[in-house]
Parts: sequence; structure tokens; C-alpha cells
Amino acid sequence: MADNTDGDIPFARPFIGREEEEAALRVLRSGWLTTGAEALAFEKEFAQFLKDAFLRNDGLHCLAVNSATSGLHLALEACGVGEGDMVLVPSYTFTATAEVVRYLGADPVFVDIAPGTFHIDPAALEKVLSKLSPDILSAGKPKAVIPVHFGGLLCDMEAIMDIARRYNLKVIEDAAHSFPIARITGDAGVFSFYATKTITTGEGGMVVCHNEDIARRISIMRSHGIDRPAWNRYSDVGATWYYEVTEAGYKYNLPDLLAAVGRVQLSRAWELLRMRQDIAAAYDSAFSGDDRFLIPPTASTGGAGPGDARHLYPLRLNLRRPGVRDEVIQKLKAAGIGVSVHFIPLHIMPYYKNRYGLAEDDFPETMKAFRREISLPIWPGMDKAQVERVIGVVREVTDTVRYF
Ligand SMILES: Cc1ncc(COP(=O)(O)O)c(C=O)c1O
Repeated sequence: MADNTDGDIPFARPFIGREEEEAALRVLRSGWLTTGAEALAFEKEFAQFLKDAFLRNDGLHCLAVNSATSGLHLALEACGVGEGDMVLVPSYTFTATAEVVRYLGADPVFVDIAPGTFHIDPAALEKVLSKLSPDILSAGKPKAVIPVHFGGLLCDMEAIMDIARRYNLKVIEDAAHSFPIARITGDAGVFSFYATKTITTGEGGMVVCHNEDIARRISIMRSHGIDRPAWNRYSDVGATWYYEVTEAGYKYNLPDLLAAVGRVQLSRAWELLRMRQDIAAAYDSAFSGDDRFLIPPTASTGGAGPGDARHLYPLRLNLRRPGVRDEVIQKLKAAGIGVSVHFIPLHIMPYYKNRYGLAEDDFPETMKAFRREISLPIWPGMDKAQVERVIGVVREVTDTVRYF
């Protein structure tokens, strides 16, 4: 990649090479654009990838979908979440995690993050559950929990699984940020292939689960509630024209055009991960000795995971004066550095705040993390000079703001 250290540095950029272009062309010329042989091959290769990565031989089902949002919706539906149920989710996440709960007529119950992390706090989760009335608990209202592996840093799944077992909750892992690191130990997990994610198809996702009944339900519901995928109907000469609609399903299938790109991205997953990890390591060593900054918790600094997918690099400013973070962002943008904030907590979003009568202070650790956070550029293909420039500008900018 050309050295463009004098130009703007985008916040994110997909790593697309000739193989991805050729894969897309192959499908465009094939006469079959929608879900078919490529999507099926992508699912098979994805399952094999996870088996090899985690040395697992349990029954793994991988179902390609058109977004992680669709995947989360399908997973909750297949786990039996419905009208009037409660699903525990962190406030510190993207709205997709909670909106899918509303799709099903259930309600998200927000939980704070653990101090110093970006992840749902097992102690806070337990506290919320223990305060529910015996009536609500015995009616089985709390149905599921969605831990979010924020930024590619893994949640404490052991603690969450233990609580889920005791309260009879299904566990749907929001792994949108964490391919290829998240192992998926819950009832289902969902990866995202959105344009900025660790591997991408532009838009897309993959649901992973271990239970055949859940997998079957998802497979039917992702294609209109029809008990047979379209490509069989049209491409298999032996197939009949007959099909049955057994549910009012959705249209959440991943087209072959995108699946073909996904297969190439999958084959590069370790290489793409290494590039992200190298950038994160450079940021870690630049910012860790400076008490104006807090580097992200990782496997080695108190995070729970065996390594981190590094979808995001969430730097926190060690500030006391409100408004510093926004001032720093403004200056970074003016200097041509693309940055973002992950996330604006859901409990302060008008929809959730008004619907559930929530106050800013209800989730203090979430607010603390949000007020300090700046996501720095991190994408495969970002060269050393660009990384050095980001480090230099962050230091320069923070030298010019009053911190306390
Ligand atoms: C935590 C989280 N969950 C779910 C999603 C939804 O992913 P998708 O865009 O593939 O629907 C996102 C999207 O960025 C996300 O950040």
C-alpha cells in the first residue's frame, strides 16, 4: 500500500485484493447471484475454520445471513424469546444488540459494564437478576442474556455462563466485533461482516450454534419460513416446484455475490488479524507509559480472552474535566485523523431512555467509559508511517488541551 502519511487517515478501510475481485466476477458471470453454492461453501469453510482454530469436534452449525443484526434476531427467535420476555444486554453497545429484542416484542434490560472494561459486568448482571420479583422469575420472564465482545476484546464467558445456568437464561453472544477470536460457548453466537469488521462482505453475518433444533429453526426463518432453500428449488434439476410455508419468516439470506467475497476474506483471516494486532501493539506501547491515557484492557492486562480480535482500538483519556474528549476528537479530525466513539450508551438514547424511564446515572461505569473513549484508526493495510502519524498527532493534540 502506498505511503500516504501526508493525506487523511480514514477511521476504517476494508482490505480487498485481487482474489476478492475475481471471486465477485466469477459469481457475476455464473448466472447465479443469490444464495446458492457459494453461500453453502462459505458456511462449510467457516465451520471448518472454527473447528481448526479451537480444536473442537462438537456439532457446529454455521448459518450465513445478510447482517449480524438479522443473525441476532434469528438466534433470539430460535431460542424462544417472545412477547413480554426480558433480555439482559449491556447499555454499552450498538443499538442492533437491543433492537432485535424489541423486534420480538420483548424488552431489553440494561446492565452496566465492569469497572475498567468495556464488557457486561457479571456482578451487575447477577445483581439485576437477584432483584427481580419471585413472580417474574418463576414466570420465566428473563429469557436470555447477550454478552457483547466489544471491540474484539472477549467477555468473561465463564462467569456469564455460570449465572445463565443458575437463572435458566439462553446465552446469545454478540460476536459482531470478534472474529476469529470468539470461540462461541453460548447457545448461539453471531459474527458481523459489515464493511469495517475484521473480515468483510460489505454487509453480512454468520450465526454459529451447537444445537441442531436451533440451527434448523434459523435456517427456515431466514428464508421466509419456507422449509427448503431457494437454490435447491431452482438449481437442482431433481427438485420439485413444491414447497411449504410453515412460519411467517424473514428474508435474511446471504447472496452468493457476497459469500464468494467472504470465502476469500476467511482464507486471509489470520493475516488480517495479525495486521490489526501489530497496529494495536504499536498503540499500546506508545500510550501505556503516559498517565493521560488508558489503553484498552486485553488478555494480558485483565481482559478475559485468549487474545483479542482488535476490531477497535478504544483509547480512553484519563481526564477529569468534562468536554476534553470532544475537544480532542475535534482536533484529531482537523488534523486528518479519522476517529469515532464506541459507543454512545443505549440508556441515553431517546428511544430506550424514554421507553424505560432511564437516567444517565443508572449505569455509572458505562458513562465513565463513554465520556473518555476515542476509537483510533485500526485497519489491515495501515502502514507503519500512518500508525506513527496517528500516535504523533494524538500526543500533539493532547499536549494542547487542558486535562484537568
Ligand atoms: C456490537 C454490535 N452488534 C451488532 C452489530 C450489527 O452488525 P451488522 O451491521 O452486521 O448488522 C454491530 C454493528 O456494528 C455492532 O457493533
